[in-house]
Amino acid sequence: MAFHITKAVIPAAGLGTRFLPATKAMPKEMLPVVDKPAIQYVVEEAVAAGLTDVLMITGRNKTALENHFDRIGELEATLLQKGDIERLRKVNYSTDLAEVHYLRQGDPLGLGHAVLRAKMHVGDEPFAVLLGDDIIDERDVLLSRMIEEQASRNATIVALLEVDPKLTHLYGIATVEATDDDDVVRITGLVEKPSTEEAPSNYAIIGRYVLRPEIFDILEHTPPGKGGEIQLTDALQTLAANPDIAGGVYGVVFRGRRYDTGDRLDYIKAIVQLAVDRDDLGPDLRPWLKTFAEGLD
Ligand code: G1P
Repeated sequence: MAFHITKAVIPAAGLGTRFLPATKAMPKEMLPVVDKPAIQYVVEEAVAAGLTDVLMITGRNKTALENHFDRIGELEATLLQKGDIERLRKVNYSTDLAEVHYLRQGDPLGLGHAVLRAKMHVGDEPFAVLLGDDIIDERDVLLSRMIEEQASRNATIVALLEVDPKLTHLYGIATVEATDDDDVVRITGLVEKPSTEEAPSNYAIIGRYVLRPEIFDILEHTPPGKGGEIQLTDALQTLAANPDIAGGVYGVVFRGRRYDTGDRLDYIKAIVQLAVDRDDLGPDLRPWLKTFAEGLD
């Protein structure tokens, strides 16, 4: 029977070392992408796909995340007093977006461990996992398509993107077989961050998963893998290799716009790409950017 998915889990316990010193006292999830913190894009995406129950797996130094999705009475009162309704609306929007829960990861044992921490909250239901470093353009469809496939196949679904073969060492990489659906592949194997030589394909997992609750038992028995961490990819490999356990693993191949905010260079690109498309910034930014680019050698 298809289950109506309502829960999203967002692992957000990472230290953000790639962005030091910006992330010394501030969570990397709060870095602004144009004028919204990266994490808000991800919560908005979950909500747009109907997932209004959000569990964030956090750690030390993450109180700014809780504050961002909470009321800030003093700020609201000041904006109201000034009659700045537009900004007040923006402030309230993130507060009212979703029902956000928080759980600390405790030991930093990897993505698989972070997802396992969601077991009690999720219970015996399929659920989504969204990684904060990836932003999917709101004009392109991904998560709702994955949820649809999860329901119809009663399987585990991951989002795949074809990447430059030189970049396989940054991703979980899948061995795939075609299905009758143009944008869906069956996954027969998965390996975490293989070298270009070892990679079975260039189909990379991007940070969106729709999982069945069986993943928790598998994660409990998954030993540390790459980097000494409990890898979600390794647990998914177990499911892919044993399709009788939980219906196997399928990939929805994403061909839309995805922005990586986990890396400094890609973060800068993401801000520029999103800003040029904005009605309030694009018209001025575009001509400036052209002139600026012409001046580069
Ligand atoms: C994680 C996963 C990896 C996946 C990637 C997507 O790696 O372990 O399998 O491809 O997210 O962004 P991370 O980027 O957290 O190192």
